[in-house]
Amino acid sequence: MIVIVDFGSQTAHLIGRRLRQLGVAVEYAYPDDALPFIKEHKPSGIIFSGGPNDISHDASLSIDKRVFTLGLPVFGICYGWQLTAHLLGGTVKHSKKEYGPEEIVFDKQPGIFSLPEKTFSVIMSHGDTVTKLPKGFTAVGRTKQVEYAAVANESSNIYGVQFHPEAYHTEYGIELLKNFAQNVCGESLNPLVLDPQQIIKEIQAIVGNKKVIYAVSGGVDSTVSAFLTGKAIGKNLLPVYVESGLMRPETDKRVQYIFTKLIKASLVIVDARKRFLNALRGITDPEVKRKTIGKLYVDIFEEVAAKHKDAAFLGQGTIYSDVIESKGSKHASHIKSHHNVGGLPKELKLQLLEPLRNYYKDEVRQLGRLAGLPENIVNQQPFPGPGFAVRIRGEVTEERLKQVWVADAIVLEEIKKAELYDKVFQSFAVMTGAFSTAVKGDGRVFAEVVAVRIIESRDIMTSQWAHIPYDVLAAISSRIVNEVPGVSRVVYDITTKPPATMEWE
Ligand code: XMP
Repeated sequence: MIVIVDFGSQTAHLIGRRLRQLGVAVEYAYPDDALPFIKEHKPSGIIFSGGPNDISHDASLSIDKRVFTLGLPVFGICYGWQLTAHLLGGTVKHSKKEYGPEEIVFDKQPGIFSLPEKTFSVIMSHGDTVTKLPKGFTAVGRTKQVEYAAVANESSNIYGVQFHPEAYHTEYGIELLKNFAQNVCGESLNPLVLDPQQIIKEIQAIVGNKKVIYAVSGGVDSTVSAFLTGKAIGKNLLPVYVESGLMRPETDKRVQYIFTKLIKASLVIVDARKRFLNALRGITDPEVKRKTIGKLYVDIFEEVAAKHKDAAFLGQGTIYSDVIESKGSKHASHIKSHHNVGGLPKELKLQLLEPLRNYYKDEVRQLGRLAGLPENIVNQQPFPGPGFAVRIRGEVTEERLKQVWVADAIVLEEIKKAELYDKVFQSFAVMTGAFSTAVKGDGRVFAEVVAVRIIESRDIMTSQWAHIPYDVLAAISSRIVNEVPGVSRVVYDITTKPPATMEWE
């Protein structure tokens, strides 16, 4: 087992995920009590994750230095490497920030850096950099801006990288973690088996013969988790779909098909379109918008729960990335309020059931497939819980919802026509709230700019904009500008995550 010391990076849990994929057991420790934790659990090695702190400003998020005297291999990633350098006598300084892909070049590749190539692309996300190495360390890899992007102290088995090997878009990242686990720590690899039956048994053990109100959205996560719950508890499952008007049109029909045809459950559909529009009136701040939507969802679920007093649980399709992005890790900085995490008021006397809380998207898809859900359901692109509200910059109105529906449908139609739907992670349109000039017919119009965002991602934590063929982009642009009322211009969003999140709000 390897211990990951979590310094709060958004990708700290991805390190564990990669190791878990390789079949290596991991435990997480917080820096404050990592030393006793490591002594007690006796791992084969230690990984220090990245974190949002800057050592050059504040080195208080630290670890007991004696961790380096235990004789265990240590691998420091980003902040984890900077902290290692800082604690062992090196220097860390504030530098030019780097976010996104950079090319690393290796001079030599000792120990964990024994990789198929010497030059490849890595994901960087940092504002500090190590400027002087501690004694015993050798620089082995550098990027344009970072001299000590990969370092090794072979005699002490301590390694450091400034980049994120756990990010999917870091080439050979998984090989690097594998080299550390297998060659340096001596771990054997026993890859994880995804087993829906196991989850069904777990649900049965938790729920027994009680009733579960299940929040479903028609999306992959809630469908797969409610479906497995249905398999576990039969008619004690009460799926509830709130028609907020912020979802894609026809989603209610899709939900009906899943929970009446594919599995028989007592489906409840609540028409709350007017309530959502009223609650969102005049709101332009993205966080206020998210919180308003989250609160209304909770209110509605309370009302549903009041009608089903015999229900003991509220089921949700929360998956691992939701937990992390909503500050699941103690030292992580807050990014966005995901309305499906932690929004339950104390008064709601229901226990929370989140059977897929520890699984990642691709694992959830595979579990759905194995449980018998059709491909067009498990392979759907993700859609945000707050729906189109986060794809309308500024106030959400009925008129703007109609615009974004048409624009969204065009993007999806064209992407499907080009057989790209399954190849990209998400493809969507955003009403940007920016206005520009156009000439339509004979007249000048000053109308809204639509942004098209099409991205590739495996792990949600990082993504790249997709290199869509120009003719597909041309078709999307021409159709949106012609078919969506009140639009002057279409732009293509070419920003990676990090730094830009996938959604605009
Ligand atoms: P961001 O924009 O944070 O999005 O890079 C990452 C993924 O999460 C989706 N998303 C959400 N999903 N509730 C959800 O269920 C939310 O509040 C929410 N916000 C973003 C987004 O579409 C992308 O797939």
